[in-house]
Amino acid sequence: MKPHHIELLIPSEQVAARISTMANEITRALPKDLMVIALLRGSFVFTADLIRAFYASGTTPQVDFMTLESYGSGISSSGRVTVIRDITENVEGRDVLLVDDILESGRTLAFAKKLIKERKPRSVNIAVMLEKPGKRKVEIDADFVGFAIGDKFVVGMGLDYANFYRELPYIGAVAFDD
Ligand code: IMP
Ligand code: MG
Repeated sequence: MKPHHIELLIPSEQVAARISTMANEITRALPKDLMVIALLRGSFVFTADLIRAFYASGTTPQVDFMTLESYGSGISSSGRVTVIRDITENVEGRDVLLVDDILESGRTLAFAKKLIKERKPRSVNIAVMLEKPGKRKVEIDADFVGFAIGDKFVVGMGLDYANFYRELPYIGAVAFDD
């Protein structure tokens, strides 16, 4: 890691409030018996908060996890997505909600959506905590977005820089000290 510090971008109270509103939006729009598929590792904190907000809003999901890798250990994308660990649930005929931390190039979510669609779910929707508009390299949109942010490298709420900072309860931006 290069010398850097973290600047506060979105405070934890704002993140929490938005996640609770998102849960309401999703509950209004989609069936209650969702199959949530969290894309690891980055989405574990967001998913945990979102499904607890579902408890309040009335969605009663089942949950599974898929570990994908597209980034190396730094901040630049390799552009290739591989499955490290697949889900174990059957999604045929189910309403799937794919959950990820951030939508940037779109490669990760486009890959995951295609993979899940081949297994004949009834529907596939996408929820992301963050998106970076204008950074898309493949055509894909999220159905539910927490916050749109500028072109910054962000950490916290599960998002990492070299696998650090996932524990931050807020969204921070990495600022390099040169
Ligand atoms: P995409 O495939 O380019 O859309 O990127 C998706 C994945 O890249 C996310 O699931 C993150 O793990 C990672 N990523 C993209 N932007 C950031 C960032 O600003 N901070 C940390 N990870 C990021
Ligand atoms: Mg990551």
